[in-house]
Amino acid sequence: MTKVLIIDDDESIRIILTRLVGESVSGNNGGAPDGDLTAGHEYRLLEAENGAEGIRIIEQEHPDLIISDLLMPGTGGLDVLRRAKEIDDRVPVIIVTAFDEMSSTIQAIQLGAFDFVSKPIDHEGFKTLVARALEMKRLNDSGLTSTSGESGGNQPDPVLVGNSREMKDIFKQIGMVSGNRVTVLVQGESGTGKEIVARIIHSSGVTRDEPFVAVNCSALTETLLESELFGHVKGAFTGAIRDKKGKFELAGAGTIFLDEVSEMSPELQVKLLRVIQEKQFEKVGGELPIPVDARIIAATNKDLARIVEMGKFREDLFFRLKVFSIDIPPLRARKGDIPQLVVYFLARINTRLHKNVNIVPYEVMDMLQSYDWIGNVRELENVLTQGVLLARGNVLERGCIVLGQDRSVRGVSAANKDLTLAEVELEYIRKVLRQVNWNKSEATKILGISKSTLYSKIQEYRIEKDE
Ligand SMILES: Nc1ncnc2c1ncn2[C@@H]1O[C@H](COP(=O)(O)OP(=O)(O)OP(=O)(O)O)[C@@H](O)[C@H]1O
Ligand SMILES: [Mg+2]
Repeated sequence: MTKVLIIDDDESIRIILTRLVGESVSGNNGGAPDGDLTAGHEYRLLEAENGAEGIRIIEQEHPDLIISDLLMPGTGGLDVLRRAKEIDDRVPVIIVTAFDEMSSTIQAIQLGAFDFVSKPIDHEGFKTLVARALEMKRLNDSGLTSTSGESGGNQPDPVLVGNSREMKDIFKQIGMVSGNRVTVLVQGESGTGKEIVARIIHSSGVTRDEPFVAVNCSALTETLLESELFGHVKGAFTGAIRDKKGKFELAGAGTIFLDEVSEMSPELQVKLLRVIQEKQFEKVGGELPIPVDARIIAATNKDLARIVEMGKFREDLFFRLKVFSIDIPPLRARKGDIPQLVVYFLARINTRLHKNVNIVPYEVMDMLQSYDWIGNVRELENVLTQGVLLARGNVLERGCIVLGQDRSVRGVSAANKDLTLAEVELEYIRKVLRQVNWNKSEATKILGISKSTLYSKIQEYRIEKDE
């Protein structure tokens, strides 16, 4: 007999969930809601209207699947999850919530939640999830697989904002790796938040009380980078006047963050590979092997697989680094995150600049959402900082938003490799004009050209207003 427990203080949600579970278990759409025999699957539905009652039922009944609301008066979903896992760490728990936010998602996944579902509930997706969870439980009971999680801890310091599906997946992935020490590769365009992801992995997991040490692999010459990473002994080279600890040693049992890892020289790549394989290294000029405890997180804004194909990065090292990889999509691929990011950044910028710009007119939000953000979240943050500085009252007016500054001609031509300079110029002027809704004096400011030059360019390129 399969037992499914539903915990929610809202009766209407319990009714919907009951129906969906029924449909999922019976494999059709008209399943008996309160759990009779359907198509050979015998199951029983248990319900609780608060966390404490839910825990009592878990203790008595040992359900095969628990579906719990996150926020309930008194005992919340995370408490239920924690207790459920103490009793039987193989029981799948699905957390349902109207509030999807980073820290509870990460915590729930760390605590071993099977998945995290936000309201409004996608019915078909939920039914598939229930089926998957029960299937996993069956496999577990037959002794084929096992999962477990570390217990959660303090609120992490750095914040990753976003409510898109893509961002929620990233919260989950962070939850999956923060409880262990596997090597992680974070990939994403410049300004997408790779460093922030690395810091959150560090501070929300087992490494949280240890050092986080970042090294930019592109910033230094090869010799300096080597001594930066591994340290050196006195006299190892000219200028090495005393022993120096490297970043691997300084990171201790914490995290070493290798930023722009694609830029490492072939020689250092070999050395790093050895360090990962042997879990030890020697200082430059030294002989004593020093053990490595630090978790490695590497980041790149390049497509590392391509760099491997081009023969510029060792394939064996690539595989060692991407034991687990997190790909952060560019902001333009998750524009739904923009409103939340705007609100978050405005609050931060206001505090920093002692301003109170807190009204964003609809058309301005619209403009921010339709822009392409080649510089990703960093560009958005810059544009908003400038906007707050330019704003006179507490409204972020359209005129305060200056887009296109990070979109230098270099940026445009990098994105479109085969354009001529004239085409780039045409494209750029057209974009700016669209952004400012053909307000030509605004456009001249952004483009840094005079009005008469703008007029002649418009004529020369026959740019027309398109709406
Ligand atoms: N989802 C997010 N929520 C809040 N802040 C973010 C988010 N993504 C990025 N940021 C902010 O944007 C800025 C850029 O992020 P970060 O430095 O992590 O990017 P990056 O991917 O490492 O960029 P680069 O490749 O240029 O080094 C930082 O100020 C960071 O705080
Ligand atoms: Mg970075």
